[in-house]
Amino acid sequence: TARRLSGFKPTGRLQLGNYLGAVRPMIESQRDHEPIVMIVNLHALTVQHDPARLRDHTTRMLATLLAAGVDTNRTLCYLQSDVPEHAELHYLLECATGYGEAARMIQFKEKSRGNAAVRLSLLTYPVLMAADILLHDADEVPVGEDQTQHLELARDVANRFNTRYGHTFVVPRGVTPSVAARVMDLADPISKMGKTATHDGGVIFLLDPPDTIARKIARAVTDPAPDVAYDPDRRPGAANLLEILAALRPGSTPAGLAAGLGSYRHLKDEVTEAVVEALRPLRARYDALIADRGHLDHVRRAGAARARERAARTVARAKDAIGIP
Ligand code: TYM
Repeated sequence: TARRLSGFKPTGRLQLGNYLGAVRPMIESQRDHEPIVMIVNLHALTVQHDPARLRDHTTRMLATLLAAGVDTNRTLCYLQSDVPEHAELHYLLECATGYGEAARMIQFKEKSRGNAAVRLSLLTYPVLMAADILLHDADEVPVGEDQTQHLELARDVANRFNTRYGHTFVVPRGVTPSVAARVMDLADPISKMGKTATHDGGVIFLLDPPDTIARKIARAVTDPAPDVAYDPDRRPGAANLLEILAALRPGSTPAGLAAGLGSYRHLKDEVTEAVVEALRPLRARYDALIADRGHLDHVRRAGAARARERAARTVARAKDAIGIP
């Protein structure tokens, strides 16, 4: 069976885009895949950060992922920083990556534009991401659309390394959901929904209480036309809500749903109900998980121990190939 892997950066709280783009696909793959879920806290250091907040977000993210249904009997779940082989392979892969390749990444260009304090690690971010993936011989990487360019870079680096130094890495494939692969900010539907948005009125966090979710959706920007239609280019706000609803209603499509909904009011009520229902079990499990630090520590240590075994084998293979005794 294919091995799936995904990573989550603890720069804030998990939001609905993370859930539809990657958390849910990972949880669904627990049935027939052998998934790996990691909290990529080293990646969180590539932009300005506060150490205490980072620690706090990391613990909360672990509890949130478990509450969302990550089952550690089936899934290897750990913190990137607990496995030093990530940094070790990162360096070897830097030696197989071009400066120009990294500097071309859209995310790097967006985050570095006009910012004099850009960290060097922001440039090499996608190489660390490639190391995360290649360490585990992952075949499939469920991600939202914002990560597809990074996935392509990981594939290029793996192929190049294999060609130069002999077959060493599995070449991974990115897997994006067929609908809602790029969930947009409800208050600004031409921007991606993100953990670190400056105004979080348009971001649904997985732990938001139902009344908060209802309020954010009620205030979601739509468009002046009174009827509901699926037209992502001209009506991005309505399209975003329709995609969220379609993602939460198996078998439906955004255009099909639009045809059956008479008004935005009706659409928003349906989206609220679907989101609240989807997140209800998660909220119900979270409080007990976050209160049990002993259990969280155990999950963390057990995951790291298993991950290190596999990671050490991959690094040994890569060193051998590249000429490091
Ligand atoms: P991060 O933490 O920003 O996001 C985690 C996952 O959620 C997806 N995602 C979205 N999907 C749809 N709509 C959105 N609005 C949305 N926002 C986020 C992301 O695509 C991602 O799949 N670079 C990665 C972290 C990473 C990683 C990895 C991922 C590091 N190493 C190895 C996969 C494999 C990131 O910043 O994710």
